[in-house]
Amino acid sequence: MHLHGGAPEGIERAVDFLEDAARQKVDAVFLLGDVFRAWLGRASLRDEGLRPFLEALRNLTREGIWVVMLHGNHDFLMGDELMESCGVDVIAGRLQVSLGDQRVLLTHGDRYCVRDIDYQRLHRVLRSRAMRWLWSIAPPAVLRWVASGLLSSASRATVAKPMSVMSIVDEAVQAELAEGADVVVCGHVHAARDDRLDIGDRSGRLVVMADFETTGSHVGYDDGRLVLFSADTRWAPPPTPVIAIDGPAGSGKSSVSRALARRLGWARLDSGALYRAFALAAIDRGLALDDVQALSDLAEEIDLRLDSTGRVTLDGRAVKDERLRSPEVSAAVSPVAAVPSVRSALLGIQRRAGTGQAGLVAEGRDMASVVFPDATLAIYLDAPLEQRAARRLAQNPSEGLTLEAVVAALRERDDRDSRRATAPLTRAEGAVILNTSDLDLDQVVERVAALIGDRILTAR
Ligand code: CDP
Repeated sequence: MHLHGGAPEGIERAVDFLEDAARQKVDAVFLLGDVFRAWLGRASLRDEGLRPFLEALRNLTREGIWVVMLHGNHDFLMGDELMESCGVDVIAGRLQVSLGDQRVLLTHGDRYCVRDIDYQRLHRVLRSRAMRWLWSIAPPAVLRWVASGLLSSASRATVAKPMSVMSIVDEAVQAELAEGADVVVCGHVHAARDDRLDIGDRSGRLVVMADFETTGSHVGYDDGRLVLFSADTRWAPPPTPVIAIDGPAGSGKSSVSRALARRLGWARLDSGALYRAFALAAIDRGLALDDVQALSDLAEEIDLRLDSTGRVTLDGRAVKDERLRSPEVSAAVSPVAAVPSVRSALLGIQRRAGTGQAGLVAEGRDMASVVFPDATLAIYLDAPLEQRAARRLAQNPSEGLTLEAVVAALRERDDRDSRRATAPLTRAEGAVILNTSDLDLDQVVERVAALIGDRILTAR
């Protein structure tokens, strides 16, 4: 950040960042050195220009957010005074934290610039015990004089030295990773990197932030993922990737989404099961399916949720699949699902289904058009009506239905789902249409998996 009292726009930007972190209710903020252009101990606490930033730090720690400040080469005199005045922890060296199952080593990064011999020598001298004692007794005016001398000779040296001398040496990072960290996060060299480095038979990750001062670069950890944000991206976890699969009844959505979710290790949302559970609740309460007011009242009070495995629960109890898929519910679901207040009551549950998941495969009628309009990939599955009916019949041979009866029931449901005013079944713009009549399950899954792989790679 290289903050100094004479550059209020830098201070403002850093304050915005901290305030945003407070709004996001983060657990911790780690500032990896060179937060200040020159920190001179207690004297800097009195710097008027720095005050808004120090106040923002204080507000964070008052909210119970853990704030750690590591020494950089510009602010290695940070110490107890910052802890006492702002409640932050100041650490002179490195800090290893566990984020989920990853051991993440946080450090300023200058220690890896091992080819810069002069710099390393100066580093050792300035931070030696004798010098630290001198710093602690020197009057502020002397400290300021020393700091400005150091700053100008450092900038002269930076201009004169080739980049290869000043950059991070991978071997130095590899040696550190070999001691038991999975990831090293640092800054210092001002050029962002996110690379895998080999260490024996495993690999580790090196994440280097660019300078916050000019690019806003920072690293965020959420939902098991550590992400390097570059210029101008807001501090927010990346959205969960979503595959939206829409299509008429019997087009293969359920089997495809189930197989895909298993293959990708993602969660699955069966939105039809939510509408079916709603229809079941309406039937159990004896509601007439055309009584829009009664259905809207039910939408207000119903306790419909998804449990951690994605199964629908009604009043806290999992609903059996046989009940959801019974012909009675199948006939009732479409009129119930046409009621706008029922649809809006179920919207939030569906949108939250991907929270905390590596990804989400969502199937239904309006996944791409309404629920996930920003889906990473939208698929529209289709097949001729007779073929879909034959598949349905093969799935439920015990119900003793004829092919004609299934064709009639599916046709009626498709018509209703496509004609309704709110969120009808449609081929959303940009959706990839897959006709499954000549493809078996594995072939469809294979195609969708290849498409999502491409989309995710392009997004990166
Ligand atoms: O499995 P199948 O394709 O037969 O139906 P489903 O996905 O379980 O959906 C049952 C019914 O719920 C559909 O016919 C629609 O009326 C309704 N539904 C909806 O309106 N919107 C969704 N996103 C999903 C289902």
